[in-house]
Amino acid sequence: MKNFLRSLRFAWPYRGRLIVSVICAVMAAALWGLNFTCIYPTLKLLHAETSLLAEVDVLIAGIQRDIDKVELGLEGLQTKARELDRMVSNRYSEQMRRDATRDLVKQESRVENLRRSLYHHRLVRKFVQDWLPLDPFHTLGVVLGFVLVAVVLKCCFEFCQDWLVGSVINLGLFDLRNEFFRKVLRQDADQFGDRGSADLMSRFTTDMEALGLGTKTLFGRVVAEPLKAVACVVLACMISWQLTLLFLIMVPIAGYLLGRIGRTMKQATRKMLERVSNIYRILQEVLGGIKVVKAYTTEPRERMRFREATRDYYNRAMRVVKIDSLTGPAIEILGVAAIVLALMAGSYLVLRKQTSFMGLKFSEQPLEAEALLQLYVLLAAIADPVRKLSSVFTKIQAGGAAADRIFECLDREPRIIGNSDGPRLARSEDGQLEAPPVRGILHPPLIEFRDVCFSYDPGRPILSHMSFKVHRGETIAIVGGNGSGKSTLLSLLPRFRDPDHGSVMILGHDLRSINLRSLRHNLGLVSQDIVLFDDTIHGNIAYGARGATREQVEQAATRAFAHDFITRLAQGYDTPVGECGGKLSGGQKQRICLARAILRDPAILLLDEFTSQTDAESETLIHRAMADFVRGRTTFMITHRMHTLEMASRIMVLDHGHIVAFGTEEELLRVCPVFQRLSEPGGELHAA
Ligand SMILES: Nc1ncnc2c1ncn2[C@@H]1O[C@H](COP(=O)(O)OP(=O)(O)O)[C@@H](O)[C@H]1O
Ligand SMILES: [Mg+2]
Repeated sequence: MKNFLRSLRFAWPYRGRLIVSVICAVMAAALWGLNFTCIYPTLKLLHAETSLLAEVDVLIAGIQRDIDKVELGLEGLQTKARELDRMVSNRYSEQMRRDATRDLVKQESRVENLRRSLYHHRLVRKFVQDWLPLDPFHTLGVVLGFVLVAVVLKCCFEFCQDWLVGSVINLGLFDLRNEFFRKVLRQDADQFGDRGSADLMSRFTTDMEALGLGTKTLFGRVVAEPLKAVACVVLACMISWQLTLLFLIMVPIAGYLLGRIGRTMKQATRKMLERVSNIYRILQEVLGGIKVVKAYTTEPRERMRFREATRDYYNRAMRVVKIDSLTGPAIEILGVAAIVLALMAGSYLVLRKQTSFMGLKFSEQPLEAEALLQLYVLLAAIADPVRKLSSVFTKIQAGGAAADRIFECLDREPRIIGNSDGPRLARSEDGQLEAPPVRGILHPPLIEFRDVCFSYDPGRPILSHMSFKVHRGETIAIVGGNGSGKSTLLSLLPRFRDPDHGSVMILGHDLRSINLRSLRHNLGLVSQDIVLFDDTIHGNIAYGARGATREQVEQAATRAFAHDFITRLAQGYDTPVGECGGKLSGGQKQRICLARAILRDPAILLLDEFTSQTDAESETLIHRAMADFVRGRTTFMITHRMHTLEMASRIMVLDHGHIVAFGTEEELLRVCPVFQRLSEPGGELHAA
């Protein structure tokens, strides 16, 4: 529940609306309760032989008679008391005196009550005389007219309340979604595996909805419904608080029951929401890899898998439905039982003309049948808000489960912190990367790895004790078998990960101390995954350089050998990628990505097997583009192609996370057996 309460924080800025909505709820509840009180006057009027005024007069006369009678008795008591006062004081007379005083006080308070009742009845009489027609039928018309007006007013208030609450919830969710997205973007890149993103998607959608429903119920129902119940209870108490109390014994029982049900509900909802994540994951996998699924004709298997996941979800959802629909009836049965109890007692009082039931005193005068009926209506009216409240509890618990899942993500702190105050990297006029000088180091290498170790899982090192230096303008080719740690090595440079031991230095600064945005701003990454956004080709090329002119974009595309095929498209640079994504070949898409990197003009370029998916023709073009582009930059490129090595000034050979050799091609061919094996015909560098 803690997280659910935290989620309410997002409604806090809109508390003004909430307060108005509560006022509306109070008004609606009061009018709602009042509507039920028309039973008593209606019944009275239907039975009235003369007019309402005459009825009230009869009542007043009755009360006046009672007062006279009691006052007469009172006088007798007072005389008796005075006589007792005069008697000689002994134990017996003391006792008598005490009894007499008690009787006196009792009778006095009775007179007091009767006088008050008389006063109220006189007020009613005045009201009836001044405002109501004499004829009972006309009076009934007025009463029912009041009811109608009250209902219309109540509905207006209810509408306002619903509207206000709805707006607060949606505004709150609006803020929460944006906050959530902001936090998600801050997370480490590692957090977004395939599984992670499907899971996040479901948290964004289904969980948010469940939370919204929970808060809506809280602000809507939890405020309005108890108020309605309270209005009825107050009115019922005015008729007979003792009978009402008898009815209210169900409250603690219902509370206990709801508490139990709520806890079960929370667990059930949590499990259900997890199953939604599963469904999203399968959808993402299958829809993303639809071609593989079709090519391998694994549709039946995927159908089975999806069916399993949806069946699992169905089972969980049905459990939630079961719990949810059990609550209403359970509470209703309890309520009716309590009403029956109160009514039994009440009807005993009415039928036997008694004032006490099973030794309990209930009222001064025997209860009227009309009053009992009115009481019954009011108590029955409580059942409605209470039944609605019962589902409230489960919905809030469901919202709580969703809030837990949402805040679990919101609270996840990224390991890689932005360092916004750290020293910044900048470009000099001639395009060189510069950083604030470090004392004691005159000409630091551009990049230096100092004894860097890294592992994803403890005990399974991926990079071990790597130390090397790279100077400005060098082009470093990284070669090595699959899984030797090449991509991992590159991912340390933009700080997608930090080393476990040792440090990566740039111009003498530890990467971890540098302002992260300025670091990433000066890095260009072209990987083998082609990422195009739902935008035009122009927009995709200008993705990392907003505000680039059409000319600059075209220039970059020309350098990436993409200009020709782009202009051949019907809409040229304004072709939406979404529409032509299927028509572009892998190599063409790759060249668009390359143009994006070229336009960004990074000082350090990271290329990860960027030609592995392209056809021979595109590859030649991309090579020509690259050879031109790496000039004047510092480049790290992971490659499987022998002829790419021609661009490299030095080659690093990796084997199981160790640098086995680092030098020029001739040197390596001479001294490095691993490299010799890789570059043999049929070796890795040729196989591709
Ligand atoms: N996110 C990850 N979590 C755990 N292990 C990983 C992850 N990424 C890669 N690995 C493991 O690290 C090793 C090196 O991976 P990688 O650097 O991608 O190799 P290369 O690019 O040289 O083929 C592999 O054994 C791989 O299984
Ligand atoms: Mg790799």
